[in-house]
Order: sequence, then C-alpha cells, then structure tokens
Amino acid sequence: MATESEKNEYDGCYKKDAWFGSRESHLLDRYGNLLEPGTSVLDVGVGQGRNALPLARGGCRVTGLDNSEVAISSVRAAAENENLDLVLHQKPFLDFQAPESFDVILCFGLLQILSPEDSASLLERIHHWLRPGGILFMTAWHVDDPSFPGLCDTWERLGLHRFRSPDKKRYRSFLGRGEILQLFFRWKVIHHWEGLGQFHRHGDSQLERHGDVEVVLGKP
Ligand SMILES: C[S@@+](CC[C@H](N)C(=O)[O-])C[C@H]1O[C@@H](n2cnc3c(N)ncnc32)[C@H](O)[C@@H]1O
Repeated sequence: MATESEKNEYDGCYKKDAWFGSRESHLLDRYGNLLEPGTSVLDVGVGQGRNALPLARGGCRVTGLDNSEVAISSVRAAAENENLDLVLHQKPFLDFQAPESFDVILCFGLLQILSPEDSASLLERIHHWLRPGGILFMTAWHVDDPSFPGLCDTWERLGLHRFRSPDKKRYRSFLGRGEILQLFFRWKVIHHWEGLGQFHRHGDSQLERHGDVEVVLGKP
C-alpha cells in the first residue's frame, strides 16, 4: 500500500535533521497575516515540523498528522522541549477523524507521493476538514517536473499523470497545468504559482529541482 511504503521511506530520511530544510515555507512568510494567534491549523504530512513548530510558537492551535513514527517523535520532542501546545497524530491521513473543522490546512509536498486513490481521497478530506471561509496552503508537483519523462519510461503508468514504481511500493502523482484550480473550482485564489522551483538538496543527495505548484486558496 502507498501509505505504508511512504511511511518507511520517510522514517529513514528523518534520521537526519531538517530533511526538507530548517526554514518554514515561504508561503507562510508571505501570508503569515492569515494566521493570527488562536487560528486552528491542521498540517497534513507535518514531517519534521518546519511549519507546525513556528506556527505553534506564534500562538496558533496546531494539529500535526503524519504516518512516519520518526517524524512525529521528533516534532513531539521539540514541542515538549519548548512547552508548545501541539496536538500530534501518528497515522495515515485515511485513518484521521477530525475532531473539529479547521481554520487553516497546510498540505506541503504530500499529494505527489500518493497513489491515485489516496490523492483523490486526500482532496476530498481537505474539502471536508476545512471550515467555510478557511484557508488552504498546498504545494504539489506538475507535469513539467524534470522527473516526469524518466518515469514515463521506467515506472508503470496508472493514469495520464500517475505512476507506480517497478517494485510497486512508491507512487508519483503530478498535476496538469492549471489543474489545481479546477480541483478547487470556485475557491478564492489568494496565491497561485506554477513553474520550476529552486535547486535544493535533501541531506547529502544530489541537487534537484521540481515542477512546483503552489496555492493559497480560500474555501467558499
Ligand atoms: C515530502 S514530505 C513533506 C513534509 C512537510 N510537509 C514539509 O514540507 O517539510 C511528506 C510527508 O508526508 C508524510 N506522509 C506520507 N504519506 C502519508 C499518509 N498517507 N498519511 C500521513 N502522512 C503521510 C510523510 O511521512 C512525510 O513526512
């Protein structure tokens, strides 16, 4: 299953600090005014907490969800160390029962690693978990990602923009150009950008860049 395989993949990565960087997303820098103290925030795929921890420090009521045991333990340790009020769940998002609807949902870098079924389910759940008037911050990959042509040749194609690895353990789901706005039809577009992102590396891996989709959207 995609969720189990991804869990193992990230458990390994997170043995190194700040795998996805130590800084919060530039979207939170730029739109931080939408996150006042007291705002309830769900971070789906919280990772090592690079976004959840600063928001909790700023007084947001943050819930972090991730199926990686190493991710959740490290965020929990950091939160306890600073006495931050952060609610953490170590489980796949498919098993998460939201106790409330949230003012803000963060979903950075999760959509592209899910199977077609799980990515459709995640989008449905985001619609359900966010309150009317709430704000979604999301990043994903689009079809101009440099890895796309190689996957066409070497991975099993499950749909127009969806792939499964030869060992059947990993998935990649890309969005078509502008598709994100169709998926969130009628939502208010606060920010939308698609293009080639900056070069970066994870740990000591090779430099890479992605075809990035970034949105900040207001639910009607
Ligand atoms: C690319 S990382 C991004 C982490 C973080 N959002 C960030 O920007 O630093 C994706 C995260 O989603 C988590 N994840 C993958 N599949 C998941 C699932 N089915 N349910 C919950 N979390 C999942 C992974 O463990 C990983 O921490």
